[in-house]
Amino acid sequence: MYYQWRDKQAWKTFGIDISSPSDEACKLFDINVNQLVRFCNDEALGGLTTTTTKMFEADPDFIMGHVFQKGLAILSPNQNLLGNTSFQEEVKQLKELSKAATVTPWEALHVDAIECGAKGDLLGACKIWQDILVETPLDILALKLSQFANYYLGKTPQLLHPVGSVLCHWTPSVPNHGYVHSMMAFGLEENNMYEEAVKEADQSLAINKIDIWASHAKGHVWEMQGEFEKGIDYFDKTEKDWSSCDMLAYHVYWHWAVYHIEKGDYASAMEIYKRGIHPDVAGFIAIKDSASFLYRLGLEDIDCSKEWKAVFDVCRSHTEDHFFMFQDIHILMALLSADEMKIAQEFTHSMTSGSVPTSKYFLKILEEVGKAVCEALVAYKEGDYAEVVELLMPIQFQLREVGGSNAQRDVLNLLLIVAAMKSPREHHQKFARYLLNERKAMRKNSPLTDRLILRSSVKTTN
Ligand SMILES: [Fe+2]
Repeated sequence: MYYQWRDKQAWKTFGIDISSPSDEACKLFDINVNQLVRFCNDEALGGLTTTTTKMFEADPDFIMGHVFQKGLAILSPNQNLLGNTSFQEEVKQLKELSKAATVTPWEALHVDAIECGAKGDLLGACKIWQDILVETPLDILALKLSQFANYYLGKTPQLLHPVGSVLCHWTPSVPNHGYVHSMMAFGLEENNMYEEAVKEADQSLAINKIDIWASHAKGHVWEMQGEFEKGIDYFDKTEKDWSSCDMLAYHVYWHWAVYHIEKGDYASAMEIYKRGIHPDVAGFIAIKDSASFLYRLGLEDIDCSKEWKAVFDVCRSHTEDHFFMFQDIHILMALLSADEMKIAQEFTHSMTSGSVPTSKYFLKILEEVGKAVCEALVAYKEGDYAEVVELLMPIQFQLREVGGSNAQRDVLNLLLIVAAMKSPREHHQKFARYLLNERKAMRKNSPLTDRLILRSSVKTTN
């Protein structure tokens, strides 16, 4: 897990040219990058907050330190950075700092990417991170930031191509090389290359069995292939390995809990939810997972009203975020499911009225897909199932654009199916069966699909 942290000269041997004169800052940058790729606040190292403070104590003007810190802020969906004047001012100061003659071209490009991301132009940032990787293939920060951004943008091919393009450079002597294989595993899985994904993930786990991103990639494969028993068994046996990776463990708990929903074992699903995903355990960072988990149970007519209250409480201060569509969709699920209709109305108003600064990209996705998804969530809450189908049917093949992974977006597929089953229109009910037939063909061993087919058959024959 640990290697000799790299000073300025050591970074250079991997093609990374850092301008800071402080070897201590360079080493702490390495420590931070290592914690990021491991998804772990490593207490033995001090955790990210402490090591970041120490990094700036060693060099307050450390360009890549500021890039690291702001890159994480841009891709942590906890606030609307476009409306955060102090953050925008800090980015301006970073840009000024990057004009110094000593700043290297690699660092200047990273600052440009941060500038783009801070304006909400994540596509522009991804273009720059790609330019960086063409010149500097051993830059795992550019690789990781572009992966996060492409995940939020719903750019599935780009979850694979950047890492596939640099993987050959990551020989066993390069620090963190196992984590690049696990990134490759996830990219392969999202692009439906399941066998190859498992091979890459196993390669990562052979290097480091606590690599949570590798275990997570395998979890996705089992979800997509309907291998729920295999997934349950694996996460049960390996929890002690990946659960210490605090920046992602809650999401692996989500995959694990979803397997139990699939089986119809709601008690086990809820037990795992309370252990690893519940807001009391994971906080707002897990909002996508807590909302998605409870919403799936709701689609199976399981009453979760008590649980929704806790999720609403952590969403309450995020009703004007509107930075990532995928995040907003889950916040809206929480507001509606907690019966906070007035706040839900205010939320959709601030999302669509222009009263809160949002990026051009957010507005584009809102117009093309997001608005219809949000209206469908409201219609489902109001019991207007036919309207849900009319809203979602035209965009069913565009849902990827709201961001997230295939497994996470599946809650929207399920919403469409369940609404179509509940719709009074005969054509909608047949459409539900049509979608279920496809689901059965794609994922043969899915108890959830079988339950829905049974419900659908009862409905259509009555
Ligand atoms: Fe996942």
